[in-house]
Amino acid sequence: MTKRFLVFLLVFSLSVLVCRAQTTIPVSSTVNSLVSITPWVTRVSATSATIGIEFFQAVASGIRLSASGDAGPRTQWTTSNGLMRLQSIHRFDLADLEPGTTYDYAIVVLDESIPTEVEVASGRFTTAPAGSTDHVFFAVSDNQVSPQTRIANFDAMFKNCGMGTADFIASLGDLDSTFDDFRSMYFKTFYDVLVANGYGRQAQIVRGNHEYRGKETDLYFECFGTGYYAFSFGDVFYIVLDNFEDQIRHDSTPAHYTLRNSLESYIEAEARWFEGVIHSEACRNASKRIVLAHTVPFEFENNFYFQNLSRVVGKYLFGSNPECPIDLWLCGDIHSPYRFDPVAKTFYGAKRKAHPYKIKRYKAFDRSEIAFPVFVNDGPDGAGVDITVTKCAVSQDGIRLTQMTPDGTVMDDVTFRKGQPAEIHSTTFVNYDENFHPLP
Ligand SMILES: [Fe+2]
Repeated sequence: MTKRFLVFLLVFSLSVLVCRAQTTIPVSSTVNSLVSITPWVTRVSATSATIGIEFFQAVASGIRLSASGDAGPRTQWTTSNGLMRLQSIHRFDLADLEPGTTYDYAIVVLDESIPTEVEVASGRFTTAPAGSTDHVFFAVSDNQVSPQTRIANFDAMFKNCGMGTADFIASLGDLDSTFDDFRSMYFKTFYDVLVANGYGRQAQIVRGNHEYRGKETDLYFECFGTGYYAFSFGDVFYIVLDNFEDQIRHDSTPAHYTLRNSLESYIEAEARWFEGVIHSEACRNASKRIVLAHTVPFEFENNFYFQNLSRVVGKYLFGSNPECPIDLWLCGDIHSPYRFDPVAKTFYGAKRKAHPYKIKRYKAFDRSEIAFPVFVNDGPDGAGVDITVTKCAVSQDGIRLTQMTPDGTVMDDVTFRKGQPAEIHSTTFVNYDENFHPLP
């Protein structure tokens, strides 16, 4: 090899390196410049989870997943029709995970100029355990207050109600009234607040009727997935329902937000899914089945909710001897907290405020149709105190529900055990008859 050729080789190699350097974004700057919303985690179950991320521009992205003891990380890209999709929001629905296992993940993007995968974000989550496991979760709902007040309320729930001890946190819908700015609502006033309080960037997200409203409401699906799903925690099976919008479509103001409602095929799809999920092995073998819903399982204000909901779950859940017996229906929506005891056939609710609208249109339910406990979290401007959080301790003994205001004041504290009347530990609730008249 001649000296001249060696010099040529050296110059050529350097020029290639310089060329690469000019076309490759350094990893450190890529991390900060590409990611607009850092990864969020939802739908964590024993063998599945969902992780999302948003970028400032459309990119091909994937998730690299590893657990200790794994043979090697696996990478799952967002693909369709044989291509890695270029899009700004990526949602990775992860399946075939191991129960009770901590996974490290890295979000990668494809840098076509090199080409190589560039890591842009990373995190960690743990799948729900299998087998019999006592656990605690916290449920919030109907946080239709100003963004600043919402953040303050969640902060207070961590500080005063012990929300940071939760095995998981569930938002039962209506995080705000209208989702013209979806990102601000769900990330700045919810996920970010969890992180600020030392909790993981992780929650179960139930879709409320207000998540049907607003210019950016479609982002619910892009970020979290379909409005109904199921997950397991230990041997408890959770069914998350989409209860739809509470109003029939109107073609005129003020109900303009219903114009894009197109529920028929969606209701049918959820009904088919529900029929399948309650016959699944995980549901049939569960020690307890808990429904996380946005709305109550009976008529309220109008029957539009109820008639649609009945089409999805009525055949299997309602009646005195249902095919799929559940242990709890936990929800929000009506801004009137109460609990129904299916054994004692008692109905306790918040002491009612002078609120003609709610009182006039509030309907009781047919107790013969409901054979499971119902527990309703509070919301603003209803019969109750305003915003509450419900702590749910699920154990072999039963389900203990403690409803608190953000300052930690206990509104109701009760344990439901299968086949027994509820044990009331303490309450501020009033006993009502089925026509909502307070009993002495
Ligand atoms: Fe609602």
